[in-house]
Amino acid sequence: MSALKIGFYGHVRQYHNLKAEIDKAISDVLESGDKAISDVLESGSYVMGPQLGVFEKELAVYCKKKEAVGVNSGTDALWLALIAWGIGAGDEVITTSNTFFATAEAIWLAGATPVFVDINPETCNIDVNLIEAAITPRTRAIIPVHLYGQCAEMRAVAKIAKAHKLRVLEDNAQSLGARGNDFEIGELGDAVATSFIIQKNLGCFGDGGALVTDDPDLATNIRRLRNHGSLKRSFHSIGYNSRLDDIHAAVLRIKLRELDKWNDQRRALAKLYDEGLKGTSLKLPTALPGYRHIYHLYVVETPHRDALQQYLQERGITALTHYPIAIHQQEGYPWGHSARISGSLKHSERSAAQVLSLPMYPELTVEEAQATIDAIRAWDKSRK
Ligand SMILES: Cc1ncc(COP(=O)(O)O)c(C=O)c1O
Repeated sequence: MSALKIGFYGHVRQYHNLKAEIDKAISDVLESGDKAISDVLESGSYVMGPQLGVFEKELAVYCKKKEAVGVNSGTDALWLALIAWGIGAGDEVITTSNTFFATAEAIWLAGATPVFVDINPETCNIDVNLIEAAITPRTRAIIPVHLYGQCAEMRAVAKIAKAHKLRVLEDNAQSLGARGNDFEIGELGDAVATSFIIQKNLGCFGDGGALVTDDPDLATNIRRLRNHGSLKRSFHSIGYNSRLDDIHAAVLRIKLRELDKWNDQRRALAKLYDEGLKGTSLKLPTALPGYRHIYHLYVVETPHRDALQQYLQERGITALTHYPIAIHQQEGYPWGHSARISGSLKHSERSAAQVLSLPMYPELTVEEAQATIDAIRAWDKSRK
């Protein structure tokens, strides 16, 4: 057995690289509690405190949007946007089935019906040529997922949405910092939902998310919904508890400053993988011309996925699967809820059976990426 150990995540290395700054920011939030209590905030500045407000402003600037609202998770950002738009029972929302479960879960939580269309097999993002066939009089919105770090083809999505008067909610949990060839994330949609769970390109130390938009009414509504329906102390309508804590906001402020550099490092590693794995039997990720793919995940495909994963694991290299079971293939689906499949989902099903994500994070060394390439090449040769 090899002594090599290449893990799948780099966030502990990331913490050590920024330790002094992060430790100070966290301790500053903890120390600031007294000051806030003697002011007006009953919960100190740990919840809905000043760091959250500043982070929201900085995130909005980064996303070139007017408003960013911090919430408890990417799932909540999706779900609360649907609720704020009044999308619920009897309504349909079009999306894909080869995404993280939460994309569809948010639609179910809102009480609406997800309608799954197939993916473009090259990008694993929604096949924009299949969207129109899925539209019915009940359709209210489209949720394109910017999967693995690459934008969906938003020009086409936006054109269809405009023609049919549909909302577009971009699921950007995996692609903060990516761009299209001639558009930015959020430029063509009505709102963007982002996740800050630790393993994302911009991750806090736990769960977190945000809703980013140019629509001030939507932003205000999300601010209300995330805080028990309250915009002013003691005045409530029904909402939820979905706030982004100040400790997370303080950490995210530090990490946001590093995000573009980290994404460039991911892109450099992806180039190394692309070149090193060229000529093997694996299908490598496709970056669309002119798109800035930021490789949240570097996903290869092979019909012998399980064998390759095991081969790598035996050599100390952890590769994971995103996502090995398409949502419509989950046991018990759709659990008594309504759901609809539009056309065939053959590419989504193939993807679930064949995808394997290689180690990919800014802190991965060139030597580690090269060792992964060498191991895959040796496996590939042994099969010929
Ligand atoms: C594509 C996608 N959508 C939604 C989510 C949900 O985000 P969260 O885990 O922050 O709720 C995630 C990630 O976890 C995701 O990858």
